[in-house]
Amino acid sequence: MKGIVLDRSLPSKIDFREVEEKPLLDHQVKITLKAAALNHRDEWCRQGLYPNISYGIILGSDGAGIISEVGKRVSNWKVGEEVIINPALFWGNDQKAQSKDFQIIGMPTHGTLANTIIVSSDRIHSKPKHLSWEEAAALPLAGLTAFRALVYQGNIQENDRVLITGIGGGVAQFAAQFAIKKGAEVYVSSSSTEKIEKALEFGSKGGFNYREKNWTEEALSKTGGFDLIIDGASGDPLNDLIKVSRPGGRIVIYGATRGNPEKLEARRIFWNQLKIIGSTMGSDQDFQAMLDFVNQKKLHPIIDQVFQLEDAEKALDRMKAGSQMGKIVLIP
Ligand SMILES: NC(=O)c1ccc[n+]([C@@H]2O[C@H](COP(=O)([O-])OP(=O)(O)OC[C@H]3O[C@@H](n4cnc5c(N)ncnc54)[C@H](OP(=O)(O)O)[C@@H]3O)[C@@H](O)[C@H]2O)c1
Repeated sequence: MKGIVLDRSLPSKIDFREVEEKPLLDHQVKITLKAAALNHRDEWCRQGLYPNISYGIILGSDGAGIISEVGKRVSNWKVGEEVIINPALFWGNDQKAQSKDFQIIGMPTHGTLANTIIVSSDRIHSKPKHLSWEEAAALPLAGLTAFRALVYQGNIQENDRVLITGIGGGVAQFAAQFAIKKGAEVYVSSSSTEKIEKALEFGSKGGFNYREKNWTEEALSKTGGFDLIIDGASGDPLNDLIKVSRPGGRIVIYGATRGNPEKLEARRIFWNQLKIIGSTMGSDQDFQAMLDFVNQKKLHPIIDQVFQLEDAEKALDRMKAGSQMGKIVLIP
């Protein structure tokens, strides 16, 4: 198989090359990939900022394709079926949190930025029929993360006033779309006016530029504060989110693009009865619920740009610069 391999010796840290394929095990399926999508973790791996990195591994957690081979013990899938891959491995049986064996496809095991991939047959699901290959590949990791953060951890309620931060992000655009379909009043934040406008087009009620000094005052005067905030940035801006929460509000954090906060407004948290909740990807139950929701509501992921697989460096540079609005897709 040929794919985008993490290579510490190169300035770009990645190389498009052949990798030896392991034999198919009895419980596995081989998939000819039609499309793959980037997540920020691919860029964190390239920058050496992801824990337990192995070099020589094909990156990528999101993919969709056609089954080309099935293992001897696989009876519920056939060659030729169109599938998407759940990249969450070994979550375990506890819906509250993942097991200590939890892993994600694409590090430390070979990922989806390739022409083929071998996965356990319990990781595949039928591709939603209303999605193109590009859209199907864009869905799994970010869709799963957004769904669990919003529904299981965030306990979103109809008519909640919700803020989704950094709407340009892959997870954020799913969180906003899911929240709108759940009947919430959705606001977004972004560094870009164009991205806020795009969010208004798909049903968000308003938006705030988080780079503007007075955005929290503006948000409070326009909305009165938020019942639920979904955030992937963390860092010191977390204090702004504490400020714009309504008393009793929930803030769900799924990422830390801005690192750890250097200070935290503890008094505001306890005085306002706030809940700060962590969330990571999701269980098999969350994945199935997310997929059912996407099929039922006929949701379409927002695709930022499509690149050829050999142009992965350009695609990752776009993600590093934060220029994207939605998912960056790669075609093998
Ligand atoms: N825990 C998990 O399971 C999980 C799963 C997926 C992702 N993550 C993490 O979540 C983060 C986002 O992931 P992604 O794949 O969605 O990344 P992405 O597509 O690269 O999105 C990053 C977005 O972050 C936004 N941002 C940057 N600084 C911000 C700030 N100060 N306040 C608010 N938003 C800010 C930007 O939005 P604008 O362009 O609109 O300004 C940017 O587009 C990453 O750190 C990733 O590692 C965690």
